[in-house]
Amino acid sequence: MGRWRARIAVEGATLRYRRGVTSTARSIGNATIELVIGDITRESVDAIANAANEALRGGGGVDGAIHRAAGPGLLAELRERFPDGAPTGTAVATGAHDLPARWILHAVGPIWRGGDQGEAEQLAGAYRSCLRLAVELGARSLAFPAISMGIYGYPPHPAARIALATVGEHLREVGAPELVRFVLFSEETYERFADALGELT
Ligand code: APR
Repeated sequence: MGRWRARIAVEGATLRYRRGVTSTARSIGNATIELVIGDITRESVDAIANAANEALRGGGGVDGAIHRAAGPGLLAELRERFPDGAPTGTAVATGAHDLPARWILHAVGPIWRGGDQGEAEQLAGAYRSCLRLAVELGARSLAFPAISMGIYGYPPHPAARIALATVGEHLREVGAPELVRFVLFSEETYERFADALGELT
């Protein structure tokens, strides 16, 4: 984590830094939750999460971007180590191959089916699994995309609330990783997360 990033970790503050990118940060104990707009494949945090599917063989959206940037070694590792994929609401870890991060945590979020099919618990489970894996691996910084909020169609406001509540609860209990950054692909998604961060108790 560069020094300029540490400087923006001011509770509740929204600041403009580097090339006009917007960022919001909030402290929970000694840990920080940060929101930025950007491309997660470029993040040099210890671990990045991927919004994968149960097959774990790549796809579109952020999954496609991560596979393209990580190179073919990623698919080979997934095939070899996870021949049966992973169930919805869980995550698995691989190396980061050609990405600047050290690990990729492949989280399987739920497909939105109206909200009464256990989607909320599955979405929380996907985030929680990544947080636990990050702690097990010793990752001090972890970046998340907006899991299930693209192709899987989860409505933005509840999805952002669940994401932040799950991270907040984990950080209050465990105190690590020290930085959890949401790397959001559009201003609109960023705004939904900023609203939900403001509501976080
Ligand atoms: N960096 C950060 N966020 C990104 C990037 C990127 N490079 N590319 C896309 N996104 C954003 C999308 O705009 C969306 O807000 O990630 C969020 C998640 O969207 P999806 O990638 O569509 O993921 P999801 O809704 O969880 O659907 C998963 O999509 O491609 C498949 O294999 C994947 O089947 C799985 C499904």
